[in-house]
Amino acid sequence: MHLHLRDGEQMRAVLSDTARRFARAIVMPNLNPPVITTELALAYNGRISRALAANTKMQFKPLMTLYLTDSTETSEIMKAKASGVIHGVKFYPARSTTYSYAGVTDIAKCFAVLEAMEQQSMPLLVHGEVNDTEVDVFDKEKIFIDRVLIPITQRFPDLRVIFEHITTKEAVEFVKGASENIGATITAHHLLFNRNVMFQGGIHPHYYCLPVLKREVHHLALIEAAISGNPKFFLGTDSAPHSKNTKESDCGCAGIYTSHAAIELYAEIFEQAGALGKLEEFASFFGADFYRLPRNNDSITLIKERWDVPMELEFAGKALVPLRAGESMSWKILD
Ligand code: NCD
Ligand code: ZN
Repeated sequence: MHLHLRDGEQMRAVLSDTARRFARAIVMPNLNPPVITTELALAYNGRISRALAANTKMQFKPLMTLYLTDSTETSEIMKAKASGVIHGVKFYPARSTTYSYAGVTDIAKCFAVLEAMEQQSMPLLVHGEVNDTEVDVFDKEKIFIDRVLIPITQRFPDLRVIFEHITTKEAVEFVKGASENIGATITAHHLLFNRNVMFQGGIHPHYYCLPVLKREVHHLALIEAAISGNPKFFLGTDSAPHSKNTKESDCGCAGIYTSHAAIELYAEIFEQAGALGKLEEFASFFGADFYRLPRNNDSITLIKERWDVPMELEFAGKALVPLRAGESMSWKILD
């Protein structure tokens, strides 16, 4: 329920990893230029569908999103809703993450749009970090809850909000205590690691993502939320491919690629937490229910079998370093 598919040749390189494991995904609109209109979202949807059709074995439905800007108009929300193809509007605080340069500078500028979304029952998908450079990078999510999220949910109580890729115990507590209109996605990498993994014996850019990994106390709170059976918490990988050269650079990009082993990673996490029985609802039921989509009827089969993750994957003529590169996985998906 949160995925970066990129575009063009890059999209064609990564799409089958997701389509092999998931029947659908909420597709992020942070392309360059961003997907700010229904027309652009429909065109992007067409490009994904054509890439899928080129590989007839793949059954996968992209669920499109719009990118919110300071100047998004309420009429765009009506168009998006009427399209039947757009399932949410993404709020990136300007300059908070990859291609968020056109994001929202002040959410107050979008209040008319949020009101329209509340009326149209169009979910708001939130990148929950303040873009205030004075705020410590590890506190950006916590501060966002107080400064932005609480005021929005108070002003628009019927607006459905997905607090995406949560990373802190404060976020878990906020979501638990909020109304039933507030849900959250949790990535595999935030369930696997705390921030130490970025700095063990040197700096490891392939563990750098936004929101950045946090302390162990937060890591544990996320695991507890994911296995709790609380329907407010559901799967969203935030798999975000960047070529190896752009990650291993003097100003490396944020994003971790997990699509090649996404459900297998979650299976490992749930197994280690003694909660394999809770995986299906977290992965397949709660997200669909929150988005008011029918649950899928098909199933996938995971077996306990070791396989090795390649050091690199092909990514439009460049290399892509996947999570677990050169290491092994304990769960395998059966085709
Ligand atoms: C994402 C990307 O690369 O598009 N990066 C990331 O670290 N998660 C953007 C985002 O979701 O913040
Ligand atoms: Zn993302």
